[in-house]
Amino acid sequence: MCGIVGYTGKDQAAPILLEGLSRLEYRGYDSAGIAVRDDDSPVSVVKAKGRLKILVEKTDGGKTVPGTCGIGHTRWATHGEPSETNAHPHISGCAADVNGIDESNVVGVHNGIIENYVELKEKLKRHNYEFYSETDTEVAVKLVDYYYNKYKVGPIDALAKTMVRVRGSYALAVMFKDYPGEIWVARKDSPMIIGVSKKESYLASDVPAILKYTRQVYYIGNLEIARLTPGQVNFYNLDGDEIQKELTEVAWDAETAEKGGFEHFMMKEIYEQPKVVGDTVSSLIKDGKINSEAISLTDEEIAAIDQIYIVACGSAYHVGMAAKYVFEDMARIPVNVDLASEFRYRDPIMTEHTLVLVISQSGETADTLAALRLAKERGVRTFAIVNVVGSSIAREADNTFYTLAGPEISVATTKAYSTQLIACYAMAMEFAFVRNKITEEYYKQLIEELTSLPQKIEKILEDKERIQWFAAKYSHAHDIFFIGRGLDYAISLEGSLKMKEISYIHSEAYAAGELKHGTISLIEDNTLVIGVLSQKKLYEKTVSNMVECKARGAYLMGLTTYGNYMIEDVANFVAYIPKTDEHFATSLAVIPLQLMAYYISVAKGLDVDKPRNLAKSVTVE
Ligand code: AGP
Repeated sequence: MCGIVGYTGKDQAAPILLEGLSRLEYRGYDSAGIAVRDDDSPVSVVKAKGRLKILVEKTDGGKTVPGTCGIGHTRWATHGEPSETNAHPHISGCAADVNGIDESNVVGVHNGIIENYVELKEKLKRHNYEFYSETDTEVAVKLVDYYYNKYKVGPIDALAKTMVRVRGSYALAVMFKDYPGEIWVARKDSPMIIGVSKKESYLASDVPAILKYTRQVYYIGNLEIARLTPGQVNFYNLDGDEIQKELTEVAWDAETAEKGGFEHFMMKEIYEQPKVVGDTVSSLIKDGKINSEAISLTDEEIAAIDQIYIVACGSAYHVGMAAKYVFEDMARIPVNVDLASEFRYRDPIMTEHTLVLVISQSGETADTLAALRLAKERGVRTFAIVNVVGSSIAREADNTFYTLAGPEISVATTKAYSTQLIACYAMAMEFAFVRNKITEEYYKQLIEELTSLPQKIEKILEDKERIQWFAAKYSHAHDIFFIGRGLDYAISLEGSLKMKEISYIHSEAYAAGELKHGTISLIEDNTLVIGVLSQKKLYEKTVSNMVECKARGAYLMGLTTYGNYMIEDVANFVAYIPKTDEHFATSLAVIPLQLMAYYISVAKGLDVDKPRNLAKSVTVE
C-alpha cells in the first residue's frame, strides 16, 4: 500500500504534492519522491529514502523543484527494498540515480502490485530497455513508454495497451514529455480519487491528500483512464471512448478520511484483517499448495531441523505461543517459545539442527534483533517473519517471509499479528507435509480452511455490536482475567495484552489449569473472567475452571465456536466464532478480544491509537 498524489494548475506543484503526501504517510513511509515540470521545462525528479520529512528538507519544502504540474509518491515497499533508487517516481529512461532534471519520455508513480512484472521486464529488455530499480513500477512506466513509441497514437492508446497487458492492481499516474501540464492516470483495483477546482486538478490515493484544496471529486472506475489538465478532467474507457462522470462532494474531514471513516486507526486495522489475511494467504499458496519459495527452506533443510526456537516480544511472542501448539501438533517438532529479552541473555542450547524463528512487525525491535544476532553468532539458521520490507531483522535473517499487513499505525497490533499467525500456520503445514506427519488429504483440507479464514473473520466483525454492548458494561473493571488451555491459553495471552495496553485495566492471562495454584485467590464478586474455549478436547476442563471462578463470585464471559451452546448454562455472556480447524482458532478467537479491548478503551475516553508509555516499535532495550 503506497500513497500517490498529483497536481496541475497555476500554483507551484511541489509544496502541494508534499502536503498531500504528508496526509498519506499512513499508507507507507519508507521512501518518497516527486516529479515536477513546467510547460517549457523537462521534468525534475527528486527522491529520498526514509520518512517524508527527509524529502521535504531535501527540496526545501518544494522550493528547489519549480513547476506547476507534478506527481508524488510515498512508498510501502513490496518489491525491492526501501532505497532512493527504488523510490518513486520512476522514469522510462535509464538514469540509475534519478535525482534532478530528466529528459525521459514518461515519468510515473504507482500504488498496487504488477503481478506479471518479471515477464514484462524480460519483454522490455528484449526491446533494449535497461532497468535501474527492483520495482514493478519501473516496468509499468517503461511499458507505457514502449507502447507510446511503438504505436505513436498518444497517451490514451499507450495506457490502454499497458492496462490490457498488465496483470495485478494499479493506481498509475504518469506525465508525458510531449504533453506539458497534463497528468494521465489509469486505475484497476487500487484506490484513486480525482479532485478539481476552478483552475486546478488533483489526484490522490485517498481523500485526505486533497481535502485542503477541494471537496469536488470524481471517482475513477476500474480499467478507466483520465486526463487531468488545470481545472478539467476527461475520462476514457479502454477503447479510448470518452465517458462522462458526475462530480461529487466529499463530506469527511481530513482526519476522518485518513482513518477511512473509522474513529481510530486500530478499528480501521481490525477491519483490514480479512483483506490482509487473505493477501498473506494468497502469497503463501501456489497451485493449491504452500508455496515452498515463500517458505524458502528446502525439503532437506526442513527434514534436518530437530528443534525450533520462536523468539519475539509482546504480541509477536503471543503469535509464537500459538505457533508452538500448531507446529508441535502438526509437524511433531519440539518448539521453545522465548521472550527475546530472555533468550538473548540465557545462553540458549542450540545445535546445527536448530531453527531460530524470529517474529517482528517492525523488524526493528531491539531485543528481537539481538536474539537474532545471537543465533547467527552461534551458526544457527535463522528465519524472520516481518512486516516491514528492508527492516534490520528482515535484512539480517538467513530467510525472511514478509507478511502483507501493510503499514500498521495503531500501537496495539491487530492486522500484523493476524498475518504473522498465517505465516506460522503455513510454515507448520509445510514442515508437517515435508516430514510426512500429515496426510495429503488433511493437508488439502488445511489449505482450504486457510483460505476460508478471511470471510470467517468478516462474519465475526458483522456481530461486533454484541461485543460493544458487553464491553461498555465492563469499562469500569479493575481486573479482567483471561483463561484457557493449550491454544486457548495463547489466545488468552494476546487478549489480555490488548486489554492492558489500550484500556489500562489490570489483566492477566492464565493457563486455566493453573488458577487453583494461587491466582483464584484474586477472584472477587463480579471479577470478569473470560474463558477461551476453542479447543474441543479441553473444553470441559476449562469450563470447570470457569465454574470454580463463578463459585467465588466471578462474572463469566465465554468465547467459543457456534454450536457450543451448553456454555450458556455457565457463562453470563458468550461470544461466538465460526468453526474452523482448531489449529487456526487463534485467528478467529482473537477478533472479539481485540474488539473488547478497543470498545473498553473508547468507553474510557482513552487514546486508543497512542496509549500512554508505549511506542509502536521498541528499538531500545
Ligand atoms: C502489541 O500490541 C504491542 N504493540 C507490542 O507488544 C508489540 O507486539 C511488540 O513490541 C513487538 O513489536 P514487533 O512485532 O514490531 O517486534
